[in-house]
Amino acid sequence: MSVVPVLSARLTAAAALAFDLPGADPELRAATKPEFGHFQTNLALRLAKTLGTSPRAVAAELVAHAELDDLCAPAQIAGPGFVNLTLLPSTLAAGVNELPRSLPTTGRRVVVDYSQPNVAKQMHVGHLRSTVIGDALCNVLRYAGYEVVRQNHVGDWGTQFGMMVEQLLDEQTPVESLDLEEMQQLYQRSRKHFDSDPVFADRSRRRVVLLQSGDPRTRGIWQQLVDISLAEFDRVYALLGSPLTQADVVGESAYNDALQGIVSDLAAAGLLTESGGAQCAFLPGFTGRDGSPLPVIVQKSDGGFGYSATDLAAVRHRVRDLKADRIVYVVDHRQSLHFQQIFALARTARWLPETTSAEHVAFGTVLGPDGKPFKTRDGGTVSLVSLLDAAIARAGALLADRTGIDRESVARAVGIGAVKYADLSSDRTNDYVFDLDRMVAMTGNTGPYLQYAHARLTRLLSKAGHPEGQVTVLAEPAEQRLALLLAGFGDAVQQVAETLQPHRLCTYLYDVASALSAFYESCPVLPSEGETRTSRLALCTATRTVLHDGLALLGITAPDAM
Ligand code: ARG
Repeated sequence: MSVVPVLSARLTAAAALAFDLPGADPELRAATKPEFGHFQTNLALRLAKTLGTSPRAVAAELVAHAELDDLCAPAQIAGPGFVNLTLLPSTLAAGVNELPRSLPTTGRRVVVDYSQPNVAKQMHVGHLRSTVIGDALCNVLRYAGYEVVRQNHVGDWGTQFGMMVEQLLDEQTPVESLDLEEMQQLYQRSRKHFDSDPVFADRSRRRVVLLQSGDPRTRGIWQQLVDISLAEFDRVYALLGSPLTQADVVGESAYNDALQGIVSDLAAAGLLTESGGAQCAFLPGFTGRDGSPLPVIVQKSDGGFGYSATDLAAVRHRVRDLKADRIVYVVDHRQSLHFQQIFALARTARWLPETTSAEHVAFGTVLGPDGKPFKTRDGGTVSLVSLLDAAIARAGALLADRTGIDRESVARAVGIGAVKYADLSSDRTNDYVFDLDRMVAMTGNTGPYLQYAHARLTRLLSKAGHPEGQVTVLAEPAEQRLALLLAGFGDAVQQVAETLQPHRLCTYLYDVASALSAFYESCPVLPSEGETRTSRLALCTATRTVLHDGLALLGITAPDAM
C-alpha cells in the first residue's frame, strides 16, 4: 500500500462530503518538523478562500468528515488551519511489509531517445551523461508502469561522410583497418582537404549524393564506418553496464527515405517559406535576440536535408509506427531551442497529437578541474573509456586492503557506480565538475556511501541467518522515521517518472541511508530480543531491498560485500 494516495483520497472525500466540493486535491506534503507528525495539508486554507469562512473552522469540518481512524492518530489542526497527520505504527508497518516491487501498469508507451553518439567520433562526456540519465529514466519509467522503447538516435548521416569516403578512396586506406581514433583523424584530414581543395570539395559533394541515393560501393564503405563505430560504442556500454545494444540503434540514416515526404507534407500544409534558397518553417513565438523570426531549416539551398528534417521524421515515426504516448529526449541543454522548434512544428503539422507529450530532458555540461568544459590539454575530447578506467582504478585503490571480496568486480561496481551517482545526484540542468576524489568518497551523498550502507546491511542480515519476518514493532522514533521513508519508496519513484529528475531518487536514497545510521545508533538489532528483534531485522531487510532496488533503478550495482 502506498499511503500518500490513500490519505489523499480520504481527504478529497471529506471535502466533498463536508462542503460539496468534489475533486479537491489535498496536496499532501511531508511534515516540516517531526513534532508536526508525518504529513501536512493546507487544503483547509485553500477551501476557506472559496467558502469565505475561517480556515480553522474549515479544518475542523474537514477533520470531522475524514475517515482516517484506521490509518492515523487523531488529526491535529495547527496554526492558521493546517491539518497535521501522524500515521499509526500499524500503518507504517504495513507500508514497509507491503513494499511494491513495481507500480501498476499505465498502459502507456514511452519512447526514450538517448545516448546518441556520432559515428566516426569518440563518445564524449556529454554522451556519458545522456547514457547514464537515459538508462536511469528507462528503468524508472518501467517501474512506474510504462512500456519503454529505447531509441539510440546515432549520428550516422550527413555531408561529412561524403568527405570521409572520398578521402579514404584518395588515400587508398582500407576502411576496415581503422579504429575510432583513426576515423576521427581521417575526418580532420578530410575536412582540411575539403576547405583547401575545391576539386576535392566538389567530389565530396557528389559522393554525398551517391551515398544518399544508395550507390553500393559508397554505402559499403559508409556501412563499415558505422559498424566499427557501433562495435566501439558497445564496448563503452558494456563497461558502463548500460543495457543498450545495437537493436536499440535507429540512426539518422534510417530516416533518409522519409525526408522528401516530410518536406512535401509541410509544403502541402502551407508551412514552408523559401528563404535564401532554403525551405524554412517560421513559427509564431520563435525570434532571435534582435527580434527577427527564427526559421526551422527543413531543406538546405543545395537540396540536402539536415538535422531538423531528420528529427521531424523521427517524431512522425515514433507516433505513427511506435505508437508513443510520451516521447523523451535526453540531450544537452544547448539543443533546447532546437527541440522547442521541432515539437512546435510537429504539433502544427499534426504529426504530434495533443495526446502524446514530448519532453526535452536537458542536462548541463561536464566541467574539467579548471571549471571549463572537460577537454584534453590539446582541446580534444576526453576518452570515456579512460575516465571510466580511472574511476575503477581509484575504487580499486580504496579497496586494496579488503579481503574476502572479489576485489575486481567490486572495484568495477564502485568505480562505475560513483561516476553514475555523481552524474545523477544533482539537478541535471546544472553543470558539474568531474572530480573522481569526491565521486568515490565513502561519506556524503555519493554512490559508494549508499553501496556501503547496502553491504553493511547484507552482512548484518547474513549474521542473523537471513531471517524472514514482518515489521510489527515501531516504538522508537528512529524506527518510525526509517519506516516512513521506506513506505514512500513507490511515491519517490513515481515522482521521478513524472518530473524526469533522477536526483530526487538520489536524495531519497540518501535520506534512507541517513535514517538507517540514526536507527543503528538508537536501536540495537542483533542484541535485541523477541518480537523487537524480528521486527528490526525485517526493517533492515526492507531497507536493504529499497537501497538495492533504488540503486538498480539508477543503473548502479550494489555488491553484497565491499
Ligand atoms: N548526435 C547528437 C549529438 O551528439 C544528439 C542527437 C540527439 N537526439 C535527437 N533526436 N536529435 O549532439
